[in-house]
Amino acid sequence: MKGVILAGGRGTRLKPFTKIINKHLLPVGPFPMVYWSILKLRETGITDILILTNKEHLSSFICLFADGQELQVNISYKVQEAAKGIADGIAYAKSFVKDEKFIAILADNIFEESLVPYIQNYYKQKKGARVLLKKVLNPSRYGIAILDEQINSIQSIMEKPQKTNSQYCVTGIYMFDNQVFDFIDAISPSERGELEITDVNNLYIKEKQLQYDVLKGWWVDAGTHESLYQANTFVYKRLEENLFKKGEKSE
Ligand code: G1P
Repeated sequence: MKGVILAGGRGTRLKPFTKIINKHLLPVGPFPMVYWSILKLRETGITDILILTNKEHLSSFICLFADGQELQVNISYKVQEAAKGIADGIAYAKSFVKDEKFIAILADNIFEESLVPYIQNYYKQKKGARVLLKKVLNPSRYGIAILDEQINSIQSIMEKPQKTNSQYCVTGIYMFDNQVFDFIDAISPSERGELEITDVNNLYIKEKQLQYDVLKGWWVDAGTHESLYQANTFVYKRLEENLFKKGEKSE
């Protein structure tokens, strides 16, 4: 399986930092944010990784990772011509993933758990896609899944709904087969002018081919000032716990 990391976009909710730097290079713990996606992929054994970013920031990513050797992964890069949405970004991965199933991660998603069990579940699935959900307190900020929990099924996904009874956010960790590229071709830009990944996932639902798991550990979309702070708090807390465990830090 290959990994695709989406690290483009305008990062408008993190201005003024994002006037001068790509959001995914801002610090989360001791690393630039995008490191965490690479470490999470590497933890699952995925080492063939494509980073998608915008033209003006490409050189910073290359400067940071080069071909990935330092992190024991193989990194290649592609430029997303314009910030036209997550689905538009994924379309650029077609020649990289070829016919294989792949995992796409939004580089501002910082999370605790290993993806290994979820990828195993995806391999058991004959075809289609798999998303990872997490209960959130502010559903209007995310893609929200309407579930029929009795039959473990997603009925539909709404992008940033003003009103909903569901609290299950669709996180930015997606597992796709190569049908995704046909679905991306079939959708049109939303009101915000983007090709929405939610529209793609709704096409998988129409074909009864979207399955899900619910993340157990903490998860943050670090795309706002508040949630970036939260991501840092989580990461430093975890690092401190590990130091205590190793006895490298006294009480
Ligand atoms: C995007 C997706 C949304 C998803 C979220 C997860 O939102 O559009 O469906 O729930 O990522 O991080 P964005 O952060 O681009 O507004």
